[in-house]
Amino acid sequence: KIDKIVIIECGTDFNAGLVGKYAIEKWGNIPVDVELASEYRYREPSLDEKTLVIPISQSGETMDTLMALRYAKSKGAKILSVCNTNGSTIARESDSVLYTHAGPEIAVASTKAFATQLVAMYLIGIEIGRKLHTLTKKEIEVICEEVSQLPARVEQILETVEPLRETTRKFKSAESILFLGRHVGYPTALEGALKLKELAYMHAEGFAGGELKHGPIALIDENVPVIVIAPHDNLFEKTVSNMQEVMARKGKVILISDRRGIEQAGNKAWARIEVPAVDPFITPLLYSVPIQLLAYHTAVVKGTD
Ligand code: BG6
Repeated sequence: KIDKIVIIECGTDFNAGLVGKYAIEKWGNIPVDVELASEYRYREPSLDEKTLVIPISQSGETMDTLMALRYAKSKGAKILSVCNTNGSTIARESDSVLYTHAGPEIAVASTKAFATQLVAMYLIGIEIGRKLHTLTKKEIEVICEEVSQLPARVEQILETVEPLRETTRKFKSAESILFLGRHVGYPTALEGALKLKELAYMHAEGFAGGELKHGPIALIDENVPVIVIAPHDNLFEKTVSNMQEVMARKGKVILISDRRGIEQAGNKAWARIEVPAVDPFITPLLYSVPIQLLAYHTAVVKGTD
């Protein structure tokens, strides 16, 4: 009976929600909006009882998200929240909850909660695809297999952190760091920039590769590291051409890609970070690991709290 989904949230959760939108629209063929709760709650958006609202919150207590949820409820929408904290207010006020079970987040920056929010988004997307028959049994098996391989692949990345540490030493003097990605690489880029702000107190921006020419290019010179998220997928060539535009302005490219991507475009980059090859929709979860580590090591090098 649902004809529209609205995902509402703040901060990191927004980036997980954006990945959710891409996955749910592709796998479930249903329109999905992603909204910042702090905007949504004040603008009287249009929704009704045929809308499914998905609030995402690690703590389950963020006031803007809670107020947006209450607004949606008052309009008759069904609420399925994605929360990490058992029994939190957002969880209690929802029709149903998908708990992410990441354990408590100790620091301000959401890290493992983000990873589990992505898995929650994949599960919702798969379930909708299964119910609406927009995904075949085989497709569901393939995605589930990719998701179940994630712990081993994350371990693989964690074993190769040394080059990352080296890269971040070079960041110390940068005044600004940019992140660029396409498709679900775009929310991954937003997340990378947010982590640098939260942990290393640095100016950082993430943007969609296609937007490079519409403004951000003006910021690039030899002092600006640009982290390019470029899995070897059907948009790889386009992202590589963005990378070339950055390099033409002497920007320092740190390429994050899989083996094929690194082999094809890595020699031109200032630094390279290799991650295992996965289904394009799963890349945000894997690519966010080196991105979180970049922020962490930059914070250590800079001596921020
Ligand atoms: C911010 C945190 O203050 O709150 C972010 O710095 C977090 O990391 C955001 O994503 C939202 O919090 P929550 O608990 O609703 O997920």
